[in-house]
Amino acid sequence: LNIILLGPPGAGKGTQASRLVEEHGMVQLSTGDMLRAAVKAGTPIGLQAKAVMDAGELVSDEIVSGLIGERLDELGNETSVIFDGYPRTAAQAEALDGILSARGRKLDHVIELVVDEDALVDRITGRFSCANCGEGYHDRYKLPKVEGTCDVCGNHDFKRRPDDNEETVRTRMAEYRAKTEPILPIYEARGIVSKVDGMAAIDAVNDAIEAILGSDA
Ligand code: AP5
Ligand code: ZN
Repeated sequence: LNIILLGPPGAGKGTQASRLVEEHGMVQLSTGDMLRAAVKAGTPIGLQAKAVMDAGELVSDEIVSGLIGERLDELGNETSVIFDGYPRTAAQAEALDGILSARGRKLDHVIELVVDEDALVDRITGRFSCANCGEGYHDRYKLPKVEGTCDVCGNHDFKRRPDDNEETVRTRMAEYRAKTEPILPIYEARGIVSKVDGMAAIDAVNDAIEAILGSDA
């Protein structure tokens, strides 16, 4: 199974992808996570990407498509994958078609998380994650079950993303509207887009996605 989770910053792509990983053993391919790992490791890609990400703009198509191809090669062709935050431009959508067909894969579903943009700033500025395992939390919508302790790994340090301030979030939204939303018709023409109400509670969004994947997952 190869699925794309599409939606603006804060729509819940990462949150829902990690549910699918837990429940079905699918693999999450998040270009945002890959780029943040490259920044942290100080690789040449990371050095190039940092300022672009901090400004809320998009990293080059070649870099992100290269990362996706490399990660897919590390996985067996039978592994089910969730593309989270990729593709984000028409050029990336075209690159993904080539990357998948070269590996005997095909896209099964594009799931669009439909959200109200005003609510997203609140979601993003309240977001934090475990500094050890990366599990995501929110100041109001998803607190750790035991205060100050990660549910998954028991760690006590948490962190916030440098691009999660209001000004950068506005730029990220504008980039989404200008460059990412316009790729939806490519997939609509193939009849593989399903829309999900991303404003519902996390569990309800997960249920809606499960219903779309049905017995394939
Ligand atoms: P990336 O890491 O992809 O960030 P993004 O698209 O801005 O998405 P987010 O991670 O902010 O949101 P999300 O939809 O995953 O929401 P989440 O589940 O965390 O990209 C970062 C940067 O990297 C880009 O700006 C760009 O520079 C670069 N980049 C990455 N990919 C690229 C590409 N392909 N091409 C070029 N550049 C690229 O949820 C948000 C919060 O809300 C959480 O706290 C969560 O707990 C909470 N929440 C989630 N769902 C719900 C719900 N249903 N109800 C209430 N709260 C909820
Ligand atoms: Zn943790």
